[in-house]
Amino acid sequence: MIIAVDGPTASGKGTIAKALAAHFGLPHLDTGLLYRAVGRQVAAQGGNPDSPIDALAACNFADALLADEILRSEEVGGFASRVSIHPDVRHALYQRQRAFALQKGGAVLDGRDIGTVIAPEADVKLFITASVQERARRRWLEMTGRGIDVALAAIERDIAARDARDMGRADAPLIAANDALVIDTTHFGRDAAIEAAIEAVALHTGTA
Ligand code: DC
Repeated sequence: MIIAVDGPTASGKGTIAKALAAHFGLPHLDTGLLYRAVGRQVAAQGGNPDSPIDALAACNFADALLADEILRSEEVGGFASRVSIHPDVRHALYQRQRAFALQKGGAVLDGRDIGTVIAPEADVKLFITASVQERARRRWLEMTGRGIDVALAAIERDIAARDARDMGRADAPLIAANDALVIDTTHFGRDAAIEAAIEAVALHTGTA
């Protein structure tokens, strides 16, 4: 079974994808990490994330980078969003994601274009969303909890800018697939969101 989980930043899609993978016993790929690795590598090489040439040159990052905590930072998230608009970068990362999706037994992948581009034949597609204000609040709580001093308004601005870039790009923009099940987590806590997603997948695929 292939489960595609797409949605904007801080919507809860990563948490949901991980929980679905554990519940249904499937391997999970956070595809955002691949774009984050390219974003990090381009910056480390002194390149410009907005340059398609620099960004493509950073696609040969070492796999060890995927485990580096630095990929989780807001700064690297911004670089990732910028490199992800280049078609050559998306093309370079395609095969790896496609192979993961097609592995025997199935998989859960989360990202922006899993249901539309990477695995359009997925057995079930979820599109996880939440209001910008709520996503900013979650990100702010998480960051201040880690001791990072940041203003809520600044996070809200960043998230809105990231949404605009991810949804507005020409190649594989963030959009719900026609046949995606949309789950709005604005008024859900973590557990309720996970429960809703498990129920949606179980109902849609007839699996327990
Ligand atoms: O999910 P994330 O915040 O880790 O993703 C970081 C950026 O990577 C996101 O702003 C856009 C890009 N991305 C993408 O274009 N396609 C994906 N499948 C996953 C991420």
